[in-house]
Amino acid sequence: MPILSILQYPDSRLRLKAAPVENIDEKIQKLITNMLETMWDANGIGLAATQVDVQQRIIVMDLQGDRINPRVFINAELAILDKTPSSFDEGCLSIPEVVETVERPSKVLISAMDGEGKWFEEEAEGLLAVCIQHEIDHLDGKLFVDYLSSVRRQRIRKQLKKNRT
Ligand code: NI
Repeated sequence: MPILSILQYPDSRLRLKAAPVENIDEKIQKLITNMLETMWDANGIGLAATQVDVQQRIIVMDLQGDRINPRVFINAELAILDKTPSSFDEGCLSIPEVVETVERPSKVLISAMDGEGKWFEEEAEGLLAVCIQHEIDHLDGKLFVDYLSSVRRQRIRKQLKKNRT
């Protein structure tokens, strides 16, 4: 399986907004397979299509990281069920080695299609709630560092630049 390259912050393509998937055809199925392989290869637990430079609303996830029950969310939408903020230390494959505490609503209702195009609804709390909000942000061109202060963000950019040279 080809491993896709993951865009790295501050690549401007991470700011593009993804469009809904209209047809889950062979091409989309193949993209999903490649996204899963890419996520596992990078030891991630979630990946949005935006991160591999495809502007389609596709998210893959494997919260256990054991490759047994990977999840696919197509055209996912969220309703907030409990807006009480919950803090979590987040990381991102597009912002390597950076972990920052982010606050998000603690409980959401996910409506999405699975990899076969079947619609489902699921209430999410804890890691799933954090991850789905983080990944949907990606599809809207938003990154978790956007929730931090601009001073903190500047420092992260400098750190990443240093790491890459
Ligand atoms: Ni991310």
